[in-house]
Amino acid sequence: MKFEIIEKKVEEIHADCEFIIVIDGDLDHKWVQDKEDLETLSFEGKTEEVAFLPHQHRVYVGADSFDRDEIRLAVSYAINTIKKSKYKTVKIGIYIDKCPVTNTKAIVEGIVLGSYTFNKYKTEKNSCNIKTVTISLEDYSEKKLGLSHAQKAIAEAQIIADVTNDAKEIVNSVPDDMTPEKLACEAEEIAKELENVECFIGDENFMEEQKMGAFLAVGRASEHKPRLIHLTYKPKNPSAKFVFVGKGVTYDSGGLSLKPSEHMVSMKADKGGAAAAMSILKGAAKLEVPFEVHAIIGACENMIGGNAYKPDDVLVAKNGKTIEVRNTDAEGRLVLADCLCYAQEFKPDYLVDLATLTGACVVAVGDYTTGVMGHSSALKHSIMSSASKSGELTGSLPFNRYLKKLLKSSVADISNISSSRYGGAITAALFLDNFIKEENKEKWIHLDIAGPAFIEKDWGYNQAGASGAGVRICLYWLKDHQHKLSNHHKKEA
Ligand code: BES
Ligand code: ZN
Ligand code: ZN
Repeated sequence: MKFEIIEKKVEEIHADCEFIIVIDGDLDHKWVQDKEDLETLSFEGKTEEVAFLPHQHRVYVGADSFDRDEIRLAVSYAINTIKKSKYKTVKIGIYIDKCPVTNTKAIVEGIVLGSYTFNKYKTEKNSCNIKTVTISLEDYSEKKLGLSHAQKAIAEAQIIADVTNDAKEIVNSVPDDMTPEKLACEAEEIAKELENVECFIGDENFMEEQKMGAFLAVGRASEHKPRLIHLTYKPKNPSAKFVFVGKGVTYDSGGLSLKPSEHMVSMKADKGGAAAAMSILKGAAKLEVPFEVHAIIGACENMIGGNAYKPDDVLVAKNGKTIEVRNTDAEGRLVLADCLCYAQEFKPDYLVDLATLTGACVVAVGDYTTGVMGHSSALKHSIMSSASKSGELTGSLPFNRYLKKLLKSSVADISNISSSRYGGAITAALFLDNFIKEENKEKWIHLDIAGPAFIEKDWGYNQAGASGAGVRICLYWLKDHQHKLSNHHKKEA
């Protein structure tokens, strides 16, 4: 889909169809030309309302306010109403006097995110027919919103939404089509496509050399061998280093602590953290953020078999800590333990891991919300405030000394599960904390995306299936860092 932004009035633009966002029931706005028809349809112009007038070729959508997520939601409803129609071009006006850049971005994101469809396994492809969306900067000259500024906003929003959809595609792909090796190929493609991006793939031998005993154990029973994927984006003179670590369990059967059938369905999504980390890196490179960015992914399959790792095993992680395995379904933390040790060798300024780590996180905050954990309140606050702009939902879960003690083991340094059934999202994060060096404690954030990574029904502008959880949080966060940096430079100048 192509987006263009022009200075003409909406009425002067030629397009097959027009979208009109009605804000908080304002049916007297100049863009509303069908008030009577809308009243007949009882369309009030409130959030989640849509009215398609085929003869007029207009789609009206309601939004309760100019809030970015209201706008994203509204345009996603509009595009979904007509995506199977014969229309190929659409036009839409932006309210120039209300945060025009923010609104332009929200329109682009809402349309790109909302029009995604997962077609890979459908005989009849159900793609969106819309080829061009023209955004009108009506009254532009009076309000002096630079056209180039607006074009840059569109390009940025399109990158962020496109890479989010790329993550959805990876997560939705079935386990046999996205084995650790195939996931590694996806990473290599990113490096091929983008200058400034390099890709390193470590196989089992590399993992042996690196003494990744925990990660290796998880992948041992699978026909598909594990891979350590490491993507790096390096701009000239980076001002900080961000390392994103992703859980890439391409299928989680639970291992010998086998999941019951109904819980196993959808465990193809256990690579959600990996897909997010890859998309964050791709997005960062395309946005040309002034930071060095790494994506480190532990890719493996948690399966059963004669060679499987077992409850009762004691594993040795890369940092030398011994781990008593009491449940092979708590495998993500084992993979991440070694990947986090590896990640810290690159001396990050910020270390973020993304993982579909615990069902307990979903119990705690619900399906739609990412659990945010870490030692630094400032860091948690900064990532959560970027998240709220991105439209992704987050909730903070607090650490405490008592929960940490529940991971004690009588035979090893630590157990891979807590001795209590409560607080499982936090105890999983506190397990990871054992692999964070003292000097990095305040630099580390853990995002548990077990809920939003994959939901089997539509929600907002997200389709049933994968949502690309974590991608927009982290890209908005990187962009906010960049803005802070340039404001700082401006002040100094
Ligand atoms: N991949 C799962 C977590 C998960 C659950 C993700 C539901 C998405 C939706 C993880 O590996 C797991 O199985 N965790 C166990 C941990 C338990 C054994 C301590 C869980 O949450 O039940
Ligand atoms: Zn598991
Ligand atoms: Zn898992």
